Amino acid sequence: MQPIMNTYGRLPVTFTKGKGAHVFDTDGKAYLDALSGIAVCGLGHGHPAVTQAIREQADNLVHTSNLYGIGQQQTLAEKLTAISGMDNVFFSNSGAEANEAAIKIARKYGHNKGITSPTILVVENAFHGRTMATLTATANPAAQEGFGPLLEGFTRVAYNDLNAAQQAVKENSNIIAVLVEPVQGEGGVTAATDEYMNGLRALCDANDMLLMLDEIQTGNGRTGKYFAFQYFDWCPDVLTTAKGLGNGVPIGACLAKGKAAEVLQPGSHGSTYGGNPLACSAANAVIDTITNENLCERVLELGDRIRNKIDAQLKDTGLVTEYRGKGLMIGVVLNTQENAAGIMKSALEAGLLLNVTAGNVVRLLPPFILTDEEADEIAVKVCDQITAFFAAQK
Ligand SMILES: Cc1ncc(COP(=O)(O)O)c(C=O)c1O
Repeated sequence: MQPIMNTYGRLPVTFTKGKGAHVFDTDGKAYLDALSGIAVCGLGHGHPAVTQAIREQADNLVHTSNLYGIGQQQTLAEKLTAISGMDNVFFSNSGAEANEAAIKIARKYGHNKGITSPTILVVENAFHGRTMATLTATANPAAQEGFGPLLEGFTRVAYNDLNAAQQAVKENSNIIAVLVEPVQGEGGVTAATDEYMNGLRALCDANDMLLMLDEIQTGNGRTGKYFAFQYFDWCPDVLTTAKGLGNGVPIGACLAKGKAAEVLQPGSHGSTYGGNPLACSAANAVIDTITNENLCERVLELGDRIRNKIDAQLKDTGLVTEYRGKGLMIGVVLNTQENAAGIMKSALEAGLLLNVTAGNVVRLLPPFILTDEEADEIAVKVCDQITAFFAAQK
């Protein structure tokens, strides 16, 4: 029996080193990383500022406890609230845990209003994590299969369908919050429309509900703004993030604003590791680097460059039906009903890391520190892989 539990179908490779946009396997073979550990290493591998922060903090103090003041956590909370306009932050170790905090805030908010069965509105194709509450919020029957009973207190409507959300709220006075991704990642790299996002904000305002955005994947520069909600002129009530925040050091955050920021009180939530000095030092270095080096602008430039180059090469082939996403969250939708997951393996053999989601969407989440040449190389290799995939179907 394998000593690691069988929860992942892994590709046949092990990496031992990373530098910039490349990782190297046990034989020293280099791979261009267009996945960033699934939207985690936005600053690439071995970024000097992050490495130095981790090294210095490890030398000083790795962990104490949330029973005491933690200077690095205080600094990080100040940076995150300043960037986002939110009021306060709860720190966790992962995305799912950040969403757990959001779900608890929503439920408590409902109970405080005298609603004994508070319900959260979630959407089709959502991914929010794999703990029991976030698995319930996730819209993937295969992921939920065999883990029932799921939690009460969630109701689901179609994504990007404002009428459906409005109707659900009209029919169910227990709905106290909406939880949604501004760009769905695992669900197929689908961006919410402006009308939908603005409509959800108005719906929540009109019904005293919390608008909770899952920016675990879209946050920390990935879409070309520090947070994707910053494409709009309002704030959510609750915002979760993780992935890119620590550039690989596990950390998550649940930010709240206004009435939502006052819901949790001492004793109502907690985490042993959440926001410890090591993780917060790494995240402080990440935020400083993204902001000081204007990486959000670079994300937009690189995103356009990769998309345009792929499109220029494939536009007359009919192999691609659509490009989705924002910034460096790129979904290339293939013109096939066949499962294209095999492209992950063939790309690996060609020295490129990418992902395929929702069956036929080639998903690119490359780091923000790509050179123009590396961006072009990703585009060329992706086109080669897509062309080879369709040639093999014939
Ligand atoms: C939008 C979104 N929410 C939540 C999660 C769960 O995060 P984690 O795997 O860190 O628990 C993910 C992970 O892919 C995600 O993309």
